[in-house]
Amino acid sequence: MFNIEEFDIKLDTDYIGRNFIYSDEVESTNSLLLQSKDFNQDGAVLLAEFQTQGRGRKNREWISNSGQNLTFSILLNSEFKDHKINLINFCACIAVAQAIENLYQLDVELKWPNDVLIHKRKIAGILLESISKASKIVKVVVGIGINVNQPNFPGKFDIVPTSIRKEFHEIVSREKLLSEVLNNFETNLNILKKSPKKIIDLWKSRSKMIGEKIKIVEDDKIKLGIFDDIDENGFLILKQGDKKEKIYYGDVGLRER
Ligand code: BTN
Repeated sequence: MFNIEEFDIKLDTDYIGRNFIYSDEVESTNSLLLQSKDFNQDGAVLLAEFQTQGRGRKNREWISNSGQNLTFSILLNSEFKDHKINLINFCACIAVAQAIENLYQLDVELKWPNDVLIHKRKIAGILLESISKASKIVKVVVGIGINVNQPNFPGKFDIVPTSIRKEFHEIVSREKLLSEVLNNFETNLNILKKSPKKIIDLWKSRSKMIGEKIKIVEDDKIKLGIFDDIDENGFLILKQGDKKEKIYYGDVGLRER
């Protein structure tokens, strides 16, 4: 069972997670927050012990054992609604990385656009979704799945999964981890307001692929080049000879040297 009191004691935010909704089972915390008219408070967090239709990027499934991990979504519906969405995604990736580094001293790598890795294995994924009206974004939902205490991951995956328990060799407190992630996320959003460049730099400092030869898979297209940089909106800049191209989405992998 998730101990809401233990989580609440450690929560040190102004608005993120102040409206906290806990649920045993939902289809997807992202879908519920996006669709619900009842949960509208800026910064509301919905945590579910189990998702029957947890989703990842590109409509992939997000599979997570019941009660062992963290699967939750954060609603943003005020001043960030027009902000560059990719940078909010970066704020969340960095928040998860900082929490894992601070609490368990593990070396975390961020992989563009939304993966959090330890020893090249996936520890967490982030899925940002939004609702627009007349081309204006009115609601952003930041969905985060963190593999916390799951001991093993049967099945086939694009990136091999791992958990904090597997890397840290101990069962850890989900309550402490969630409050730490939310504290960091709010801090990062505040940094983003003042200095988007700082957020890009924090993200880049945890990326191990910049400057490397990479392969980008966009649906059925493959692009090869060098991971040159991240632009001011959080997009990847791919260098192919003298040419530079912006990559808006896709899966990035390292190429054999
Ligand atoms: C990815 O790695 O592609 C992103 C995975 C995001 C999973 C989280 S779990 C909570 C939230 N609800 C969902 O259905 N998905 C996100």
